[in-house]
Amino acid sequence: MAIENKVALVTGAGQGIGRGIALRLAKDGASVMLVDMKADALEAVAAEVRALGRKAATFVADISDREQVYEAVAQTERELGGFDIIVNNAGIAQVQPLSDVTPEEVDRIMRINVQGTLWGIQAAAKKFEERKHKGKIINACSIAGHDGFAMLGIYSATKFAVRALTQAAAKEYASRGITVNAYCPGIVGTGMWTEIDKRFSEITGAPVGETYKKYVEGIALGRPETPDDVASLVSYLAGPDSDYVTGQAILIDGGIVYR
Ligand SMILES: NC(=O)c1ccc[n+]([C@@H]2O[C@H](COP(=O)([O-])OP(=O)(O)OC[C@H]3O[C@@H](n4cnc5c(N)ncnc54)[C@H](O)[C@@H]3O)[C@@H](O)[C@H]2O)c1
Repeated sequence: MAIENKVALVTGAGQGIGRGIALRLAKDGASVMLVDMKADALEAVAAEVRALGRKAATFVADISDREQVYEAVAQTERELGGFDIIVNNAGIAQVQPLSDVTPEEVDRIMRINVQGTLWGIQAAAKKFEERKHKGKIINACSIAGHDGFAMLGIYSATKFAVRALTQAAAKEYASRGITVNAYCPGIVGTGMWTEIDKRFSEITGAPVGETYKKYVEGIALGRPETPDDVASLVSYLAGPDSDYVTGQAILIDGGIVYR
């Protein structure tokens, strides 16, 4: 198995893409620390990881709080006996025309999507250095990190920022053998898209489900993306086959954005 005996931390692991990534990394052989704000959801995913015969631990944290992220990393090492991979997956979306966005909304999404990712990058790099070994840092970007999307302008700005952090961190940490990459999904049928669709419907008057359907119709491969689709790329980025890849924000969207 590609990452047997490795220890991975996944944020936003309580549901959706994070849950899919955690289960895939466990199947690949890793022990997994599951981090989220939702304690109950974490316990359910931990039980799924253990059912695969792998070790799981949970840590309730808000990733926008730097201290909590550092503590999650420290706890991973204490409880699972190592620290090799971090997946900075947790994030939120926000649907709002640019003309209506408030300072509070900008502050909230920047704190979670941008600062939360930065604290994860920092804390992981520091721990790899302390442990004197290489490591993998993997960040959640998006198609919205490559193109700005109408009504998702601030969300897009946060994901462009994640791409910038991914490139800068890759350059800063390359000499230590740490690779830093990002995955850029398209339209994944998770709780996040249920919320996005609902907000579009409130703002534009489109029937519920219509916006999601419209976006899915634009996918060349003809179906919505699943968390497993995303997890397959993260599995590659977490394993030794990607040792020569760094600073990339890789699109996995079924054919929406082409770079
Ligand atoms: N769903 C998509 O279509 C899509 C597409 C591209 C990128 N993404 C990105 O993938 C990541 C996961 O998305 P998802 O669709 O699984 O979302 P989701 O809303 O279904 O799940 C996100 C999880 O993150 C947790 N979370 C949110 N804020 C947190 C915080 N401050 N601290 C700790 N945990 C927090 C939530 O509790 C939840 O369990 C996000 O970064 C998102 O921007 C999603």
